[in-house]
Amino acid sequence: MYKLLVILHLLGAATWVGGHIALVRGVLPRALRDRDPEPVIRFERGFGKAALLALVVQLATGLALANFWVGPWSTVLTEPTPAAKIVLLKLAVLVLSVAVSGHAYHRILPRLTEHNLFAFAWHARIITLLAVIMLVLGGAIRLGGLF
Ligand code: HEM
Repeated sequence: MYKLLVILHLLGAATWVGGHIALVRGVLPRALRDRDPEPVIRFERGFGKAALLALVVQLATGLALANFWVGPWSTVLTEPTPAAKIVLLKLAVLVLSVAVSGHAYHRILPRLTEHNLFAFAWHARIITLLAVIMLVLGGAIRLGGLF
């Protein structure tokens, strides 16, 4: 069960991190240069649902995996283990990611034009940075810390 959770978590991570890097490095530069939102709308039409599913998979498998690392949940806030501190940090970064991506997908994307394309681009860059931070924090749990 543990190995299946890690594999699903890695699949979700590859989708969330890889998809946002493709958006920020592959789609947005040309859309911004041409002031044309269409490439972004087309990309999000394909990636949007996969991204949402990846986020749900990350939360579900992440919490299940956390059971192997944090010790008793009753003391996770009062006496957090080093791994528990990273898991709490990941939960905080997830809340931030959901807030920024939720604003981008529900407030900007439905009305995306050349005028708010720049604002969408900054949301996408922030989400991508947070995604990479999640990946690094995840590796830190398995490696027993980064330093
Ligand atoms: C977009 C969100 C996320 C991304 C991109 C992500 C990415 C990763 C990556 C790449 C790893 C290393 C996998 C490995 O151990 O070999 C990992 C491990 C881990 N992540 Fe996440 N993660 C995300 C969300 C979460 C959340 C929300 C939680 C907890 C609530 C979580 C808990 C964990 C745990 C406990 C591990 C260690 C797994 C193990 O090796 O046993 N992750 N994560």
